[in-house]
This record gives sequence, C-alpha cells and structure tokens, in this order.
Amino acid sequence: MITSADHRTPGPPAGAAADWTIPQRWRDYTPAEHAMWDRLYARQTAQLPGRVVPAFLEGIERLGFAERGIPDFARLSARLGALTGWSVVTVPGLVPEAVFFEHLSQRRFVAGRFIRTPEQIDYLEEPDIFHDVFGHVPLLAHPVFADYMQAYGEGGLRALRFGSIHRLARLYWYTVEFGLIRDGAALRIYGAGIVSSHGESLYALDDPAPRRIAFDLRRTMQTRYRIDDYQTNYFVIDSFEDLLRQTVETDFAPLYRELETLPEIEPGVVLPGDRVLPPNPPSGADSGRRAP
Ligand SMILES: [Fe+2]
Repeated sequence: MITSADHRTPGPPAGAAADWTIPQRWRDYTPAEHAMWDRLYARQTAQLPGRVVPAFLEGIERLGFAERGIPDFARLSARLGALTGWSVVTVPGLVPEAVFFEHLSQRRFVAGRFIRTPEQIDYLEEPDIFHDVFGHVPLLAHPVFADYMQAYGEGGLRALRFGSIHRLARLYWYTVEFGLIRDGAALRIYGAGIVSSHGESLYALDDPAPRRIAFDLRRTMQTRYRIDDYQTNYFVIDSFEDLLRQTVETDFAPLYRELETLPEIEPGVVLPGDRVLPPNPPSGADSGRRAP
C-alpha cells in the first residue's frame, strides 16, 4: 500500500495535482529501466503458473502485459477500464491514507513511477512500479476482486473517521498484499506482495514454516504483521466472492469497537479455533515448483 501515516502532510508536493497524481512520462523511461521490467516480468511469469490464482494469469493476458517494457498507463487503463472500470494513475511516492482510499473508492489504483535497479532486484524498501503494476493490476481485471478493492477504499474513508486505520490496514495486508486462496485441495497465491516477490512466491506455498490459516475477518484484523521479512502467517480465503461478501456484509463500526476489547495477536501464532491448512505438496503436477 502506498500510504503515509503522516496526517500532518499539508498537500501534494510540487508538480503533483490536488489528488497527488503526476504524469507517468512513459517516454522518459530509459532502455535500462524497460529491460529491468522485462527481466522481472520474465522471471515471475516463468514461476507463477500453477502457483498463482488463474484469474491473475487471465488478467495478464487480457491487459496485454506480454508487450515488452514498462506498461504505458494510458494504454493499460484503456484496457482495464473496458473490463472493470478501473484505471491506473501515477503518484510520486507515499501518499496520505485519505488520498489512497479516495482513489480506490473511485476505482483508481495509484502506482509509483520508479523501477528498482539491478542491485535492488530482490529487496526494496518502498514498492516500485513492478510491485504496484505487475503485482496489483492483473486482478483488477477480475470483476469481483475489482469490487472488493473499491469496497476497501470506501471502508478506508469510513475507518479514518473511526480512528481504526491500523485495523483495516491489516485486512489489506493479509488479503491484497499477502493473501492466499483455495483452489480445490491446493493453495494459490493472489496477494501482490507475494506475486511480485521471487522468493516469497515459493516460500508462501511450499515452506513448512509459515502458518496458513483459514481467513476470518475478525481474526485477521487482530493480527499484527511484519514488514521486514517473509510472513510467518498467511490467511487463506475460499474465493473472491466470499471475501467481498464478508467485507460488504460486515458493519465495521461495532467490529472496530469490539476489536478494542480483544487482544492483539502476534504474527505466526496459532489459536485453538484456527483452521490451519497444509502447504502444497513439495512436488508433482500441482506444485509447478522451480528452483529459486
Ligand atoms: Fe502493494
């Protein structure tokens, strides 16, 4: 999520519009920057089949990601808009939460402009355009997930009034960024933080260490998360339809009040009521595993 918790931010930086957007200046990307995208794209698209939810690969296909180089947001938004009404806009970096939620509520996904350097290929402190666009945008072509993202933005604007952003941020973290989904007996990736990470897209499904816990809205919003390493627990949804239903059918105001009375849960902890799912088999047709 490209947000800043700094509520004192007076307004957009110089050169940005009132909604914090800036021109992408697609023609200014260098050959080296396009080559970096191609390198990351080739590596992830080789690894993801059999691991990622099929809707992600369908989004890649329908949005024309196979064209070489960093996507031009004007063309990408035209295709995305025709499918689900979403668009992709450029922002200079971290944006205030209210700005982020307002864009989501209007079906605009905010993305950074910069791309990592070869030295940063496997570690970034701030999300770059590969994370933001490759990781997030393909599923915005899925109508139900697209509705979930808009509902999240609307929920974010309400959560600001309740002072409960830190709770709602956990829902984003454990779904949009690091979510897993059931696909028959197997688990698949759908979270952008995993999809765009070469190492975690293996670890999240195969490694015996992290706990893979059936998704529960309250449980998820009680659970802290770690930003400095792979996750020690993931939450597994049954379907995008179920995720959307739980989100839009929940009255969050009483839930936020209830959460104030409940203990925080540390990452990686399993509670007696949790339904823990096994990792995918280490080999076989279902796994699609490749060497890192
Ligand atoms: Fe993200």
